[in-house]
Amino acid sequence: MQTTKTIRLDKALCDMGYGTRSEVKKMISQGRVKIDGSIVKSADLKVDMSACTLQIDGAEIFYNMYEYRMLNKPAGVISATEDPRQKTVLDLVRSSGVRKDLAPVGRLDIDTEGLLLLTNDGALTHQLLSPKKHVPKTYFTRLDAAVTEEVIRALEAGVEIDDADGSFTALPAKIEQTASEDEVYITIYEGKYHQAKRMFAKFGLTVIYLKRISMGSLSLDETLAPGESRLLTKEELERLKAEV
Ligand code: URA
Repeated sequence: MQTTKTIRLDKALCDMGYGTRSEVKKMISQGRVKIDGSIVKSADLKVDMSACTLQIDGAEIFYNMYEYRMLNKPAGVISATEDPRQKTVLDLVRSSGVRKDLAPVGRLDIDTEGLLLLTNDGALTHQLLSPKKHVPKTYFTRLDAAVTEEVIRALEAGVEIDDADGSFTALPAKIEQTASEDEVYITIYEGKYHQAKRMFAKFGLTVIYLKRISMGSLSLDETLAPGESRLLTKEELERLKAEV
């Protein structure tokens, strides 16, 4: 939903990924930015970005208040916006024209790969992560040993987790077997810390590879190489919003 609230011009350009606050201030003072056809020289001008025409260097820019981007998270990066020591998922998508105010919707462990939604839509983030919504998340999982029928039945019945990280009762999971007995798809309905790993660990199994392939109706676009991202399509976004 777009609102009609006004925003400082330099902040809007900065959020949209056109540079740091001082870089966009410079762009503005150089006369490179036009609003409704007129050059604007004051960076602190309050503008209603949804109602005006914005041009940068003569090219019209379409302002989206919200951005929704799916990332194929590679292993080795953390699900945070910034970190002094480690590479973050936001470091992977920082480039001109990508909004600077994106944040990951939830977390994947550093060694987990796959679907991670990045957005600045706080309301949708809140809905998707709400413990009451039970949004399903499916992971391809490789384990260090076969997943037996007994383990599958137990996971599908719901398990009590009580370990060094705390205790909770996991809702019944869904397990889909593959041709390999040490590889399964697990669908879980909460987002507890290390949840999938802890659920398998309860049965003495160690997860050696974990990749999220879907969250709600949103599926990872397998054409994205690890580290690549793309905007959600209108259809993907509408479906996701409709289910929360
Ligand atoms: N479960 C885990 O154990 N790790 C993740 O990154 C996601 C789900």
